[in-house]
Amino acid sequence: MDSPTRREFLAAAAASAARRDRYVLFSPGHIAGLRLANRLVRTATAENAWRDGRITEEGLQLYRDLAAGGVGLIITGYMAVMAEGRSSDLQTRLWEDSHVPAVRGIARVVHETSKACKVIAQIAHTGMQAQVTEPVGPTETVWRKAKTKPRALTTKEVEAIVAAFAQTIRRAKEAGFDGIELHGAHGYLLSSFLSPYTNTRTDKYGGSLQKRVAIVREIVAQARPLVGSGFPIMIRINADDHVAGGIDINSLPELAQEMEKSGVQAVDLSGNNAAREKISAPEQESYYLKHAQAVRLKIPVISTGGNRSVERLEQAAKTGKPQFFGFARPFIREPDLPRRWREGRGAPEAACISCSRCMRGFGKGLPTRCRVNEEV
Ligand SMILES: Cc1cc2nc3c(=O)[nH]c(=O)nc-3n(C[C@H](O)[C@H](O)[C@H](O)COP(=O)(O)O)c2cc1C
Repeated sequence: MDSPTRREFLAAAAASAARRDRYVLFSPGHIAGLRLANRLVRTATAENAWRDGRITEEGLQLYRDLAAGGVGLIITGYMAVMAEGRSSDLQTRLWEDSHVPAVRGIARVVHETSKACKVIAQIAHTGMQAQVTEPVGPTETVWRKAKTKPRALTTKEVEAIVAAFAQTIRRAKEAGFDGIELHGAHGYLLSSFLSPYTNTRTDKYGGSLQKRVAIVREIVAQARPLVGSGFPIMIRINADDHVAGGIDINSLPELAQEMEKSGVQAVDLSGNNAAREKISAPEQESYYLKHAQAVRLKIPVISTGGNRSVERLEQAAKTGKPQFFGFARPFIREPDLPRRWREGRGAPEAACISCSRCMRGFGKGLPTRCRVNEEV
């Protein structure tokens, strides 16, 4: 029989063999000048945590758990850039300077919990999917979850929205975030300006690809002098609008290049069918990965949607395309998934079964948490 010391030695050797320290996924990466400890990103996940001008304790705890769980970068849930265009009264808001102290709490708890973990604020205008304010868009074209025909914005109104985004970027920096992400996906306002399906405007904000991107170009140009060159500005866009005449895998590469030219420093790829349910086979996983592999950019790309298996993601990471992988639902279920995977504990698949009850709960105004065992 082995002596205790030999047994301990063998157990330690087995544990270290199971660790994935040498995986590309667990090597550092950069977004602009921001050093990230690894290639795993918690993509934006709205919290429903805004109450009476503050972030709830449950909302803050969610961020502490994520930071402790070993993820390299956390992107917050979407924050409203204007009162008109907020998704609900439970949404985190950053449309005026008085919101900064409360929102700073998120950046503070992340940085206090882990020096290695970075946190970026996602900022958004809900556009035609507005539920508590008037639905607005580039044109009157209805899509996705919009219930009523949006009102087409005037050129002056678009200019005011550009200014609101730029000021919100400034506030995000003042609130201690390491960067910002523009929400340009999922049919929200910027998404509807980028899409040829919804944006057939004839003013400076519509029509050709260059004009559809003008809104993003102007936001970045207005924000840059406010935050300096060292503050990362990234964008989330649809890799696929899932509608004929919209963005798809063929038109995406050119759009992505225009994004790079607009001055954003990373592109996070999602789509109008963002959170697919019942992912139960390998071929259903990582459903926007092929889109991420189709773009040719100098700036980093994040691929999100259905990332579930560490070994399959490592295969993709080894090719260098994309550099980063985003997760939402798996980290709601297991905020310590990065650490668990790295240490080689448990299954190489995430425990999340993609039931999206977290999402349904969110839609009903409940705090975002795993609800796999609840009827929602
Ligand atoms: C509860 C919940 C809230 C979400 N909130 C946001 C959000 O604020 N902004 C955003 O861009 N995406 C949001 N998403 C989408 C996720 O970032 C992600 O793209 C999607 O869930 C697919 O990734 P997954 O398969 O890892 O969950 C949300 C998803 C869930 C489940």
